Amino acid sequence: MSSFLTDGVSTFLESDSHRAEIIAYIAKGQLPLKYAYAGSAAHTHDALAQLETYASVVGSDEVREVASFLRGHAGDQIVEIGPGNGRHSAALLATAGHYGRYLGLDFSRTLLGIAAQSLRSGGVRADTALWDVEQGPTTAIADWRRGPSPVVVLFLGQTLGNVEDVPATLRNIRESLRPGDRLLLGLSARVPGATAEDYLAPYRNETFRRAALEPLLAVGVPADAIDDRLGYENDEVVVDAVLRTAVTLDDAELAAGERVRCFRSRRFQAAEVVGLLADGGWSTDRLQLDDTAGRLIVGAVAADPDE
Ligand SMILES: C[S@@+](CC[C@H](N)C(=O)[O-])C[C@H]1O[C@@H](n2cnc3c(N)ncnc32)[C@H](O)[C@@H]1O
Repeated sequence: MSSFLTDGVSTFLESDSHRAEIIAYIAKGQLPLKYAYAGSAAHTHDALAQLETYASVVGSDEVREVASFLRGHAGDQIVEIGPGNGRHSAALLATAGHYGRYLGLDFSRTLLGIAAQSLRSGGVRADTALWDVEQGPTTAIADWRRGPSPVVVLFLGQTLGNVEDVPATLRNIRESLRPGDRLLLGLSARVPGATAEDYLAPYRNETFRRAALEPLLAVGVPADAIDDRLGYENDEVVVDAVLRTAVTLDDAELAAGERVRCFRSRRFQAAEVVGLLADGGWSTDRLQLDDTAGRLIVGAVAADPDE
């Protein structure tokens, strides 16, 4: 049987450190999704992001809503965490008519390059910097911003639902900003009455499968040693890679049957997000829930820790 995973497409990592990090995470059974955006996997993500099924998760309605918010913040400097291939960002900035300052931040150097190209060809002056939002705060925003006006931070496309530690990620963003700065989150929400299959259907395609498994392939796990299991549990769409045979990766010996969680996408409830934001130092002032489409857009202001 031919499969996207065994089609001989070559894989590569983006940084020398990624190999050891990915292998250490695989050995622990939990691989953060960020590696599925870097190196050759960035190009797989770019292909995935052009599918109709991807749009059904991250949504063109998100573009419309975020653009309408940005029109009310015309003079602000925009920072975006995780612009992906930049197409979503270029569309919403064009819809908002924003051609001011823009800083794209991402874990993936490869995607940042692709995003900057999409944005610049749409007339946006895009600056970029690397940041792993899960690792700790960054000084890149403070170094880039100009003057006293607040920045608006976009964190869209359900990326918050993919991180390993949501509260720590929200704190890292808050600690990289000043009181009064704004955050706009685009999230996937729980849909009343939805079945597990409703959540899983957009993920049943070979491009997604390759995107989720590519970091394992890139460090040398043979495609035919992976049995991937897509499921919905504890309000998350998840993918586990189960090893069909024993695999040795550098010093790590993995037994047949070992399971590695390599994808997660949480479905949020509105009240839960407000609580998570409050714990992370944010005060929510905008909540837009479309519980038919399963889309949640949340706006928050960075609170002053001294007040
Ligand atoms: C689901 S895609 C969303 C892309 C885009 N915002 C959209 O709406 O189509 C996730 C984006 O976040 C980035 N990302 C994932 N984990 C990250 C991390 N820990 N730190 C910084 N960026 C991360 C990915 O490289 C990618 O650009």
